[in-house]
Amino acid sequence: MRRLLPWPVGDAVDLDAAYWVEDPGRQHVVGAMVASADGAAEAEGRAGGLSGPADVRLFALLRGHADVLLVGASTVRIEQYGGDQPSPERRAWRTDRGMAEVPRIAVVTRSCALDPAGPLFTDTMVRPLIVTCSAAPPERVAMLTDVADVVTAGDDSVDIAAALDVLAERGLRRVSCEGGPTLLAQAIAAGRLDELSLTVSPLLLAGPARRILSGPPLRVPVRLRLAHVLEDDDGFLFLRYLLDIRPDQPPDSDAALRSQPPPGMALR
Ligand SMILES: NC(=O)c1ccc[n+]([C@@H]2O[C@H](COP(=O)([O-])OP(=O)(O)OC[C@H]3O[C@@H](n4cnc5c(N)ncnc54)[C@H](OP(=O)(O)O)[C@@H]3O)[C@@H](O)[C@H]2O)c1
Repeated sequence: MRRLLPWPVGDAVDLDAAYWVEDPGRQHVVGAMVASADGAAEAEGRAGGLSGPADVRLFALLRGHADVLLVGASTVRIEQYGGDQPSPERRAWRTDRGMAEVPRIAVVTRSCALDPAGPLFTDTMVRPLIVTCSAAPPERVAMLTDVADVVTAGDDSVDIAAALDVLAERGLRRVSCEGGPTLLAQAIAAGRLDELSLTVSPLLLAGPARRILSGPPLRVPVRLRLAHVLEDDDGFLFLRYLLDIRPDQPPDSDAALRSQPPPGMALR
């Protein structure tokens, strides 16, 4: 991958350096999404049809930077979501930084309609977390309790801010929110998203596909700051946006913006 902005760097980008936040200080939530050039967040119902090799690599890297992968139950059901299996090198990279070898997975669900024999529970190296609410069907909760840690955050539905607080209390500070659009929109509405990593896939789809956010309009449009744009040889763009909605932004998260271009090269 090459960097196009804030100024071009032709050599292969060091992705760890480009995305790692050294010390977030408090919980840091990154949304990781892919969309077609006309804004579709799914192709024939799946995100995978939008992706490419470099996107898969970046997605794995963002997982490698996370303590926990936060995901909505529909994405788990549709994508046959399984556990994360980092390479031995990535595991060592993580433990060198005081992280667990493998990120946990936290699934947000009211229905708790998740198959206890599914890959989410059988392929994982760490017991998943199920984040549900008081209105969840007790018999389904009981089934999941055998295969996961079940926590409650909210009454009729999950309060996403409370859910994130529960994760933080468990020491899960680096959160990669992997969607889907319903969950991500709530994280933003709750003012809890710090970054958006958006891959723009060189595809046009039209049709009824939803966008990367789904749900009621945000009360106030959220302003984004572009930290960098990368590209690969296949025409994918990788946009790292920072959100301006949190006044206590971690000091290093906008390092790319604050650093200076080489002499003679103007910032756009
Ligand atoms: N483009 C991308 O990068 C990307 C990423 C991820 C997913 N996707 C695509 O997006 C689609 C799925 O996304 P989606 O928006 O339909 O669903 P989603 O956000 O993955 O999951 C929605 C489900 O999560 C649970 N949920 C969400 N908020 C909740 C709350 N506040 N309280 C309780 N439960 C809550 C509910 O589960 P229950 O029904 O179990 O109660 C709800 O039905 C799939 O097509 C997937 O392929 C695309």
